[in-house]
Amino acid sequence: MDHNRVPLWEALKKHKSFTKANFHVPGHKAGQAYDQDGYRDFSSILPFDLTEVGDLDDLHAPVGAIKEAQELAADAFGAVHTRFLVGGTTAGILASILSICQPNDKIIVARHCHQSVFHGCFLAGATVIPIPYTIDPASGLELPASSKVTEQLLKEHPEAKAVILTSPTYFGVVQQVRTLSEIAHRYQVPLIIDEAHGAHFGFHPNLPTSAMCSGADISIQSSHKMLPAMTMSSMLHINSRLVDTGQVDLYLKMIQSSSPSYPLMASLDLARRYMRTKGEKQLSLTLERVRSFREKLEKIPSIQELKISINMDPLKLSIESEYYTGYELAEILEGKGIYTELADEQKILVVFSVGTKQVELDYLHQTLTDLHMDKQVAKSKTKPMLLAPREGEILPYAECRTRERCFIPVKQAFGKRSATHLVPYPPGIPLLLMGERIHQEVIDYLLFLLASGGKVRGLIEHQGEYWLYAYH
Ligand SMILES: Cc1ncc(COP(=O)(O)O)c(C=O)c1O
Repeated sequence: MDHNRVPLWEALKKHKSFTKANFHVPGHKAGQAYDQDGYRDFSSILPFDLTEVGDLDDLHAPVGAIKEAQELAADAFGAVHTRFLVGGTTAGILASILSICQPNDKIIVARHCHQSVFHGCFLAGATVIPIPYTIDPASGLELPASSKVTEQLLKEHPEAKAVILTSPTYFGVVQQVRTLSEIAHRYQVPLIIDEAHGAHFGFHPNLPTSAMCSGADISIQSSHKMLPAMTMSSMLHINSRLVDTGQVDLYLKMIQSSSPSYPLMASLDLARRYMRTKGEKQLSLTLERVRSFREKLEKIPSIQELKISINMDPLKLSIESEYYTGYELAEILEGKGIYTELADEQKILVVFSVGTKQVELDYLHQTLTDLHMDKQVAKSKTKPMLLAPREGEILPYAECRTRERCFIPVKQAFGKRSATHLVPYPPGIPLLLMGERIHQEVIDYLLFLLASGGKVRGLIEHQGEYWLYAYH
């Protein structure tokens, strides 16, 4: 296939030059009416913010430019079918689960999954069988899911409809997708990989193999996270005899807007061309810059990279400081104009991509060196508190949907089951799932997180303290 082509982008440019009169939505009419101040910066994009007119095709029934663009993407990412997503990976995850699970169906889900996976299970009314979450005590990072445990769960729940895991994790830990796919297929169920953070995999020999090329049935990638694509643009890839692509399409139609953004879809087309035509060369450059940055970082005694000795994404870097919590370090860096991906009590997460510039790496290195040298502020910090989500049975979501809820202060929630996901954000992995029992150590950890500057979605401030919804 000709990967120099960008069918959707070409169609948009052609449409722009051919148009003489615009009598359709959106109301800014290709930028003819817009807030003056905003127009100065948005003017170049508005002429492409179009709708399903002329030869611009239709995401929900593609026959032309979008179909061709998706076929090129499938070829580039090793899939049989690829669907462009304008609602992020979230939309692809919801549609995948809904296409496979009926109410009360069981689904084997890694407990580390992003909230969107649990939202999908809730919408489907499925029952989650969790694959436990294990933390490496030395680094605090989550370890890959055990393939033995996953197989054991498939044996215990032969009626389960699918297995779903995240690979790589937010912090770059890669699962053994090949082994897991072989196991899932032995039990005749599809393996769905939330590859939100791994859209760059497979584009360089020194990066891990992508989920599609490791036997996964469905992979959903946030192209906007690790590729040069715009926020909310993602792709869903399918290569499977066990998945009904028609059903996935049906749910995508229901979940995604009937007016999908053309700039977002075009950005997927352009990101595919970029990666396919110059991705490897640019990644070589980035990987070399990042390698040398890591080498220099090792020489700063109060800074440590957190890693585990297995397959990890080299474009993710978790840093712990001897003096500062992750929140404090992120705040200091922000004061100097350096924005990192996320911070928690322990660490900050730095994300690299083909867009990372040498000058930025030098500035971060210099800033971290200066911080180390600044003995006046240097202090010894207390060891961060770490808590992995607990193992435990989760109420079937079909039951959660009908149970009565009460609104109570967190401090009084011990022993009840949560009626909401409690999600430290980022990274967006629920600490407590809807339907899970609330243990005292979770309450203590939540209060500690909030006191140290963390944010937890699902908690509500009320009468000067934090409250949540729980089941009676
Ligand atoms: C592991 C994981 N999966 C899924 C998502 C959702 O992706 P999106 O923001 O593209 O909807 C995220 C977002 O941060 C994520 O971290």
